[in-house]
Amino acid sequence: MSGFHVRPVTWQEAAAPLAEVRRAVFIEEQGVPEALEWDGADEDALHVLATDDEGRPIGTGRALFHGACAHIGRMAVVKPWRGRGVGRAILEALLAEIDRRGLERVFLNAQLHAVPFYEKSGFRREGPEFDDAGMPHVRMVRG
Ligand code: COA
Repeated sequence: MSGFHVRPVTWQEAAAPLAEVRRAVFIEEQGVPEALEWDGADEDALHVLATDDEGRPIGTGRALFHGACAHIGRMAVVKPWRGRGVGRAILEALLAEIDRRGLERVFLNAQLHAVPFYEKSGFRREGPEFDDAGMPHVRMVRG
């Protein structure tokens, strides 16, 4: 295990590696139902793919665009790579693209355990906790 790379991709060019990571993390590890995971929004989203030095997929994230608002989601890093800066690199790549497009409002729905991770990148909690896919979440906004 050594270096890694992140890059923006479209679903059309990288569906297989993006889906491989999300299947391992969300469906197999966290038990998210397939029907919720594949929600039909991927085709129009901006995606970021992280790969290791051999080109194997190790992390994902996406942003959906609703008017002037960006919605970050599907942040996932495969277990052996967690805690090594991959998640932060994916989030920063998404935020860089969001800023490049001039969008001011950025939000996400964080699983509670991931709240400290997003706080370190400048997000804060907004509103009450709620259930999504059987897991407690809270909405977070940037700034
Ligand atoms: N609790 C507290 N801090 C955390 C954390 C957690 N669960 N996960 C990461 N951090 C911190 C790191 O310690 C690091 O802080 P530092 O810079 O002070 O050392 C910082 O956040 C960046 O961490 P990083 O190594 O880039 O995170 P990661 O690659 O492990 O990715 C997730 C974070 C959440 C994407 C990853 O744990 C994951 O895929 N989890 C399973 C899927 C999931 O729950 N996704 C989130 C859905 S909302």
